[in-house]
Amino acid sequence: MSSVNIGVLISGSGSNLQSIIDKTKVEDINGQVKLVISNNSDAYGLVRAEKENIKGIFLNPADYEDNSQYEEDLIELLKAEDIGLIVLAGYMRILSPKFVKEFKNKIINIHPSLIPSFSGDGFYGMRVHKSALEYGVKVSGATVHFVDEGTDTGPIILQETVKIYDGDTPETLQKRVLEVEHRLLPEAVRLFCQDKLNIKGRIVKGANDEKSID
Ligand code: GRF
Repeated sequence: MSSVNIGVLISGSGSNLQSIIDKTKVEDINGQVKLVISNNSDAYGLVRAEKENIKGIFLNPADYEDNSQYEEDLIELLKAEDIGLIVLAGYMRILSPKFVKEFKNKIINIHPSLIPSFSGDGFYGMRVHKSALEYGVKVSGATVHFVDEGTDTGPIILQETVKIYDGDTPETLQKRVLEVEHRLLPEAVRLFCQDKLNIKGRIVKGANDEKSID
């Protein structure tokens, strides 16, 4: 598989973006971040892209009549860079079914819980961790999944648990989950770029290839 051009969509600080960039610096994952697009001009992730000499674009939703015109330009920008993998890293816009179809099984997302828990419409940012603590779960974690037409509903690639402590607050839990995210997302990107992932319906194989214990 030829080297994959990676496009990362962000809306915020871009620490997950940074984790991917850092991974490509220390390991040949057969992919490079070529483009960062934000829907938020204040996203620090755009500063990170500039510092890394990666093309960063603020695509302003206010410049568009409606979402479909916004997405038309988004698709054009991604195709112009021959993007083969789109990573949603804290991206706060919902992508339309048309967009998802355009890049079928080439969009991955990082979510700060063990999907399907604390996921779906309205579950993002601190609300995810607050809900986990209020529910009283004993483990939370992070999930990397392919994006389908739903919200946080696509086939799961990787998950890792994070133990919850009695004294946890949403902030302390978020910090530990983010540390897991920063390992899990770049690993999922590597597996994709090295063509190790195989999707059949909801099941993704190639990420957990330790033999099952009979
Ligand atoms: C992460 O917690 C991610 O799970 C969620 O949004 C946050 C993005 O953080 N989707 P950053 O912008 O990558 O620092």
